[in-house]
Amino acid sequence: MILPGGERVRIRPVRPTDGAALLELHANMSPESVYQRFFGLNRIAVEKYVLDRLTRPPSVGHQSMTAWADQTLIGVASYEQTEPHIADFAVVVADGWRERGIGTVLGRHLASVAQHHGITTFHADVLGGNVLAERLVRDLGFTSTVHYDGGVGAWDIELDHPTPSTPSLGPAAHP
Ligand SMILES: CC(C)(COP(=O)(O)OP(=O)(O)OC[C@H]1O[C@@H](n2cnc3c(N)ncnc32)[C@H](O)[C@@H]1OP(=O)(O)O)[C@@H](O)C(=O)NCCC(=O)NCCS
Repeated sequence: MILPGGERVRIRPVRPTDGAALLELHANMSPESVYQRFFGLNRIAVEKYVLDRLTRPPSVGHQSMTAWADQTLIGVASYEQTEPHIADFAVVVADGWRERGIGTVLGRHLASVAQHHGITTFHADVLGGNVLAERLVRDLGFTSTVHYDGGVGAWDIELDHPTPSTPSLGPAAHP
């Protein structure tokens, strides 16, 4: 993937050796980003989530996709199956790399893997007012519905057709 500014971003599944990079990505998140992603500010719980869940080997019910700029991890998207054919979906992109299509591309790669494993619905809880996350859900290109409860949007994203191809990255991406 080439960003409009010319930077190359590599997308690949998480590896067990990515633990340190994942910890760094999460440690560098702003308090607002941590709150948007985890609905709380407990950095120790975040560290535990990274080490216990994100880095474990992929399976049908759990996958994580990472985005890299050179050797720096700049984003991760993951799903965790909660019911037959349904999985919780979450994504984070490093604060300095947003609004360049990385979250959408990560989400689409993950959706494609999930479809392959028989997942038909991604569920995502998004804080009301988290505009970038709401746009990302829309940009994935699937039918989605949302129900708001207590300031949180509960999104269901139906993976009901082949994953759309990577969005256009603008003229600079096609010199
Ligand atoms: C939500 C989050 C993952 C979005 O990541 P992102 O990489 O900024 O998302 P994208 O760039 O793919 O899309 C968001 C917006 O960026 C812009 N964008 C997308 N592709 C672009 C491109 N090629 N060039 C310029 N702008 C682009 C657009 O404004 C897009 O919205 P729109 O096109 O629908 O108007 C990121 O903001 C984040 O990590 N937030 C904190 C954690 C969080 O809230 N997670 C979600 C809850 S699980």
